[in-house]
Amino acid sequence: MKSRNYFDEIAPQWDRLRESFFSRAVKDKALSVANVHPGRIAADIGCGTGFITEGLVQRGLKIIAVDGSEVMLSEMKQKFAGLDLIDYRLGEAGRLPIQDETVDYAFANMYLHHVEVPPDAIKEMTRILKPGGILVITDLDEHRFEFLKREHNDRWMGFPRVDIRRWFEEAGLRDVALDCVGENCCAASSCGSEHAKIGIFVASGRK
Ligand SMILES: C[S@@+](CC[C@H](N)C(=O)[O-])C[C@H]1O[C@@H](n2cnc3c(N)ncnc32)[C@H](O)[C@@H]1O
Repeated sequence: MKSRNYFDEIAPQWDRLRESFFSRAVKDKALSVANVHPGRIAADIGCGTGFITEGLVQRGLKIIAVDGSEVMLSEMKQKFAGLDLIDYRLGEAGRLPIQDETVDYAFANMYLHHVEVPPDAIKEMTRILKPGGILVITDLDEHRFEFLKREHNDRWMGFPRVDIRRWFEEAGLRDVALDCVGENCCAASSCGSEHAKIGIFVASGRK
């Protein structure tokens, strides 16, 4: 099944599924690492139904929310109906629908392990940052749970943190830092025989 079809299909259940995988501690960590300021502009890339956006709204930022799934975006629009702080854009990892040097922050939670070419996706998120802007990625550490590819459409089985650091540096980011979120991503295989418990990293860098 193609990635976009998969996400279109699970969009109505995504909030419930996500809550079973990981908690809001992931969002809190990402936002605290970025030290966000009200009034600034943030991009939520691979926004899904707006997990990261919700925290940005609460902190008074303007948000450009990008996703490849129209159904995810329409679920998100319903959730945040009436809020004019969010600009929704349908777009792909390889060419984000945002002009160069537009945003103060770019966030991507649990997005990188779905994209085709992760280092290119990092370069593309760096492109949209203003000089001095901050990229924060929260995603899975390298793991061995193949069923996540079969059942959850994962393309990559997490990432070694050394690769993430190198890709950030190759994108031209400085002050690159990697840390544990202090939270695991948990999922059981459909037959119940496997239980994944995977560390989550937070990576940040400044343009
Ligand atoms: C696992 S969900 C995470 C959603 C959200 N960030 C969250 O934390 O709840 C991954 C999201 O990335 C989007 N996505 C996956 N591959 C993409 C791509 N190549 N371009 C744009 N969006 C993509 C999916 O449509 C989906 O909404």
